[in-house]
Amino acid sequence: MKKYLAILLSLFLMLFGLTACAEDPDSSGSSGGNGTDPPAVTADNVLIAYFSCTGTTEGIAELIAEETGGTLHEILPEVPYTEEDLDYYSGGRADQEQADPTARPAIANSVEDMEGYDVIFLGYPIWHGQAPKIIYTFLESYDFSGKTLIPFCTSHSSSIGTSDDNLHPLAENAEWREGRRFAGTESAETIAQWLEELDLTMKNDVSTFDLASGENGRAPTVTLNSGYEMPVLGLGTYSLHGDTVKNSVRAAIESGVRLIDTASAYGNETEIGEAIREAIEDGIVEREELFVITKIYPGSEMANPEAAIQGCLDRLNIGYVDMMLLHHPDRNDVKTYKAMETFAENGQIRSLGLSNWYIEEIDNFIAEVDIMPALIQNEIHIYYQEQDVVPYMHNLGIVMQAWYPFGGRGHTGEILNDPTILEIAEAHDRTAAQVILRWHLQRGVVAIPGSSDPDHILENISVFDFSLSGEEMQAIAALDRGTKFDWY
Ligand SMILES: Cc1cc2nc3c(=O)[nH]c(=O)nc-3n(C[C@H](O)[C@H](O)[C@H](O)COP(=O)(O)O)c2cc1C
Repeated sequence: MKKYLAILLSLFLMLFGLTACAEDPDSSGSSGGNGTDPPAVTADNVLIAYFSCTGTTEGIAELIAEETGGTLHEILPEVPYTEEDLDYYSGGRADQEQADPTARPAIANSVEDMEGYDVIFLGYPIWHGQAPKIIYTFLESYDFSGKTLIPFCTSHSSSIGTSDDNLHPLAENAEWREGRRFAGTESAETIAQWLEELDLTMKNDVSTFDLASGENGRAPTVTLNSGYEMPVLGLGTYSLHGDTVKNSVRAAIESGVRLIDTASAYGNETEIGEAIREAIEDGIVEREELFVITKIYPGSEMANPEAAIQGCLDRLNIGYVDMMLLHHPDRNDVKTYKAMETFAENGQIRSLGLSNWYIEEIDNFIAEVDIMPALIQNEIHIYYQEQDVVPYMHNLGIVMQAWYPFGGRGHTGEILNDPTILEIAEAHDRTAAQVILRWHLQRGVVAIPGSSDPDHILENISVFDFSLSGEEMQAIAALDRGTKFDWY
């Protein structure tokens, strides 16, 4: 459940809205950040760590997890507290620990990958007006530098008092937020309201899409870090030319496809521009509803980026380009991207991104540019799933898009006939292509299947009336071979 994120992000970025795909970004979401910005805070990097002996704090922690989509972590004592230990004002174990400033009860478990979390909710019961000493142990066990810590507690009747402030010295380099006490009976609405009031500067969650809001023939959108909305399915046009590509774009638009992907190197921008203008003139679609991506190629184009960018704009001739990508890394890639930034500032390009970009290249790249890339378009398919790259980029707030989602370049037949895919397709009474597209979307990867066949185009945009189970998603994840078909 990412309910809280949905509520929160509506304040910031209109999470996966049902509105036209290219609506104006709001000011809070449109900066795109720069190379030194912290990573985007998403449900993936929210942790709810809590200690609870009798389940009260645990109940609140669960509500927070449900609202935020964050990960729950119960802090377990190495020596569990017995009823006797908890019998307060009896001089028992809990009383003794609370009275002893040096007490640090040992913890039996640890948080896997604490580095991956940016926002940590920390829950505890009030014990004699303070947090239990095991919370002190917890805070001393990790480096919370730069992370946001949000204490919450439950109690019989006491307020949170000084218990949260007294934790600050244990994680001095964290950004501490004011804590909050909850009764055990708190409703989900109260928690949701508190989370909203916290007004966390959470950025867009680009790792999951609101697929339930889609319909066959109308893909939902994902909000890019530029603030613009982009449909999660589109049409790839590599190798399509002349009337073939024009018919393909026309069929796609008539089928409800609103994202068209091209590139300078495809040599078909002129025809695509024509097809789009004709569809607009015929009243089938409005320019603002469409999302058009193009790319600048390495070599001579990137050596003269302004001319190359202007060339794309001129050939497409559709006013502005929704997204421009660098086609591959190149010695002039930063220079080209900076030129694209200038065009973006002038409103001729709305969002910027990259293609064929991997972990080893991204960090250096974003340190040198001002506008955070909104999208990375890579070779991603069932045999090359980029299980490391996808979450890495998502954590940076970058949408991942699969080019050739069915393998492409001579491999489509193999992928569409994969026995696991065929079995799942049969179980859902769908085609292999539909199952594969649905898999991409359910794992948070948007896709641009290419086709010149109107039936296939319609089929490809009709994946919103079924869903794959967790088991099916896992079965497809297991098909990963980790090897590319292409060299990029
Ligand atoms: C050792 C100990 C000390 C406590 N001290 C207080 C207190 O000072 N004020 C209060 O309102 N409740 C106090 N309580 C009650 C707990 O804070 C309360 O029951 C809490 O909701 C339990 O959370 P849990 O179910 O997550 O363990 C104390 C409980 C224990 C075991």
